[in-house]
Amino acid sequence: MLTKKADDIKSSEITEEKLYFSRRNFIRAGALAASTLATGFAYRQLFIPEQKIVLNEQEIPNIQPSSIKLPLANNDKPNDFTDITSYNNFYEFSTSKSGVVRASKNFVARPWTLTVEGLVNKPKTFDLDELFKISPLEERTYRMRCVEAWSMVIPWVGFPLAKILEKVEPLSTASYVAFETLYDPERMPNQYKSPASLFSVLDWPYVEGLRIDEAMHPLTIMAVGLYGKILLPANGAPIRLVVPWKYGFKNIKSIVKIKLVDHQPRTTWSSEAPSEYGFYANVNPEVSHPRWSQAEERRIGDFTYRPTLLFNGYAEQVGNLYSKMDLRTFF
Ligand code: MTE
Repeated sequence: MLTKKADDIKSSEITEEKLYFSRRNFIRAGALAASTLATGFAYRQLFIPEQKIVLNEQEIPNIQPSSIKLPLANNDKPNDFTDITSYNNFYEFSTSKSGVVRASKNFVARPWTLTVEGLVNKPKTFDLDELFKISPLEERTYRMRCVEAWSMVIPWVGFPLAKILEKVEPLSTASYVAFETLYDPERMPNQYKSPASLFSVLDWPYVEGLRIDEAMHPLTIMAVGLYGKILLPANGAPIRLVVPWKYGFKNIKSIVKIKLVDHQPRTTWSSEAPSEYGFYANVNPEVSHPRWSQAEERRIGDFTYRPTLLFNGYAEQVGNLYSKMDLRTFF
């Protein structure tokens, strides 16, 4: 979300504000040449697929309806499959939203293991078969609000993260959950680092974190598919986090490790630009990003803006998690 002129956006559409970069981030900014996370505005009309990329779409059997009631409004029509699978943020492959699908199309997410460790009674490494059977797979249609002020509605297939955590029996000292994406530059080409580490796009691997009560919340899921199909590489195959009341960057993709810890873990974007991206990253129309307002968003496919809702419209479900917190301080 650091910026320089993006290759895929017109210069007139890039925010003009001067940015402060730490020395390290200034160097890294050069490598983020195609990033639009930094601009705060992403325009679908700039996204022109070069040609149809043929991807291996596999149906998931026995998907159950959501086990919990989901607050969706009449105007929350799910985005179409093509939008969701070809307009992506996944910097391990490309900093261009329309470039991720092509750059990731040969990524093979099998075999795969997910290790869950740290402050738990029963650390365990799960393979994909075990993960797919951990709990009935449910369809969870959620709004997703990117910190850049665009949004989508996505019919995920997944199961509550709590189901994994229950299996490993967290200790009472486990107060946070840390997540880590695969680090494998052979398979994720943008993870390449020069020997001096000057030109890495981000400090890999991508890491994220939640407080334990956020992680155990029934809305928090691990997604393995969308639109009834196995997750494609561009969307974080084979397994990714989805926390619908937080900005999209919390939804870490292609996870290989979960660690229960007793301290707030480091998270990728809050360490890249701490004044811009917080640990909590709860969607909040009243707390602006330093370079743009978060009061409105543009749903991909729409031409007009709509108001952004507190906690992305999930306030009734999750507001109590933050009742004693100043949301401006803990943004
Ligand atoms: N996870 C990893 N590992 N790498 C990333 O670059 N981008 C994040 C998040 N998860 C990202 C990631 C951001 S900024 C967003 S908005 C969402 O993924 C986008 O998810 P989508 O491409 O499936 O819509």
